[in-house]
Amino acid sequence: MKKKRVAVLISGRGSNMASLIEAAARPDYAADIVAVISSRSEAGGLALAAAAGVSTAVVSDKGLDKPSFEAALDARLRDSGAEIICLAGFMKLLSAAFVDRWLDRILNIHPSLLPAFPGLHTHERALAAGVKVHGCTVHYVRAVVDDGPIIAQGAVPVLSGDTADTLAARVLAVEHRLYPHALGLVASGRARLSGDRLTVDGLAATADAVLMSPAP
Ligand code: GAR
Repeated sequence: MKKKRVAVLISGRGSNMASLIEAAARPDYAADIVAVISSRSEAGGLALAAAAGVSTAVVSDKGLDKPSFEAALDARLRDSGAEIICLAGFMKLLSAAFVDRWLDRILNIHPSLLPAFPGLHTHERALAAGVKVHGCTVHYVRAVVDDGPIIAQGAVPVLSGDTADTLAARVLAVEHRLYPHALGLVASGRARLSGDRLTVDGLAATADAVLMSPAP
């Protein structure tokens, strides 16, 4: 199997990045993490990636306008030979021009069941809205933020007594399973886009206990 070359973009802690690196260490996983690029030099994820033996770089937008920042990012990505980009807590908005250049090759994880709660503070907003089921989404990136064809979602219950922190922790545990699952579907070619519709080959008949869809 020829593994797909994947670059992960981060801005902070990097726990989702770490879950992708861990999955990619398996010989039967369809993707290799070839680079981790951070928009912030202080990002904790950089040390995690380096400790795992993954090549790291910082591309900051300090002092740069958006086209120059994105040109620097694009150059780094091309250098790495990346075929797929995974945004994992990457807190910079990408322009339509950048998204077009990498169309259908950028994935993002978002901490809500999209299209509910795009944007920031998703757990606070889920609690304020009183939803009973919350979760996370991996989707293809489009120019509109937190929009784009959904690849996979993982759901958790909202429990009475939850705070934003307890809910975030419950969702994060599912994120760490969902992102490797979704990237595996894309990298192996099991998930494919025709236009903006996703089809997935060989779906399991039943979802697993965390209501992950599509089931692993
Ligand atoms: C994750 O919860 C991710 O879903 C979220 O940021 C966190 C990053 O944590 N992403 C977004 O909010 C993007 N809109 P991590 O650095 O430990 O992976």
